[in-house]
Amino acid sequence: MSKKSILDLFQSNKPLNKKVPFWFMRQAGRYLPEYLVLRHKREKFLDLCLDPKLATEITLQPIHRFDMDAAILFSDILIVPYALGIPVDFKDGFGPKLKSLDHKDDIKKINQKKFLDLCSPVFETVQNISKKLSPNKTLIGFSGAPWTLATYMIEGQSSKDFKKTKLWAYNDPYSFQKLIDILIESIVLYVCEQIKNGAEIIQIFDSWAGVLSCSQLDLWSINPLKSIIEQVKKYYPHIPFIVFPKGVGVNYYKYDFCDGLGFDSHTPRSWILENIPNKIVIQGNLDPLLLVTGGTSMEEETINILNTFSKRKFIFNLGHGVLPETPIDHMARLCQLIRQYKKYE
Ligand code: CP3
Repeated sequence: MSKKSILDLFQSNKPLNKKVPFWFMRQAGRYLPEYLVLRHKREKFLDLCLDPKLATEITLQPIHRFDMDAAILFSDILIVPYALGIPVDFKDGFGPKLKSLDHKDDIKKINQKKFLDLCSPVFETVQNISKKLSPNKTLIGFSGAPWTLATYMIEGQSSKDFKKTKLWAYNDPYSFQKLIDILIESIVLYVCEQIKNGAEIIQIFDSWAGVLSCSQLDLWSINPLKSIIEQVKKYYPHIPFIVFPKGVGVNYYKYDFCDGLGFDSHTPRSWILENIPNKIVIQGNLDPLLLVTGGTSMEEETINILNTFSKRKFIFNLGHGVLPETPIDHMARLCQLIRQYKKYE
């Protein structure tokens, strides 16, 4: 056994007997005053992600303040489209804005030749964090999933219904598969390079998998993810993959090929216990808004989650990312509750 509680969980066939490990999606970000100080050093958000010194410091900020069990690389899923030659910008109060792909011929505009070069600052960040992180913490690398990245590349921004992407996939599955194949190939390279530089677990964010119809889910979420994991594991069989296919409801059971599954806050916990095999590490699923609320409603739900999942291989997390309006002392209280959990058993 290593000193790393999260890695140990993946290597063991039973829950840890000492404590429930935890980290949070978007644990580094705008709710942290020390993040805002560094954020203002770069006008463009992408430049912050591509500055190894600043990105390393930001990754470590929540660990220094709250002592989570894992650090997640500070970057963004949209680095992949950027490194494929698609202009990406982040507008205050609006979110990401990309030069969209409007027609199948636009796929030719994707440039894979400079991909690894353009991503190289991210790999340098991973290496820096790996050197600085204390030995009992796990370093999580990540990528967006092909489907979720394709939605941003086609819509050009966040969307409510993803109509343009879904219509493309229905009308012309052949060219859509071409785009997905380019993304699979790039993500495999991207993830392997993160592992080479020190990432110990990879989380794949399929944040918009939930908008796919049941048959399309297999084609555009499940099959591409299986292919990525299979290809990376040829080189790195020991690296665990956590998949976060937000919003897929009862279809979560189809993701039984990964090592860990991140659950959104909608999935009933009793359903998870009954339908997800014991070998899979469960991660989740406190509603991020309860962390904004704080107080007894947050505490009761946290204890409920801990009681439900602590007999399984389990990592405490939220059902989605930490919100910018989250008060710091609510985060501190949540970490304390999880850390002291054994007292409540
Ligand atoms: O989790 C972490 O602490 C690591 C850093 C991280 C960020 N984005 C930083 C970020 C990670 C893992 C992501 C993943 C990401 N990015 C996802 C998947 C997770 C999810 O939320 O479903 C998605 C869909 C994106 C795309 C993205 N990036 C959007 C839609 C936005 C704008 C919305 C928002 O929250 O502002 C971003 C910007 C972004 N990514 C910020 C941060 C800290 C805020 C930008 C800023 O500080 O100016």
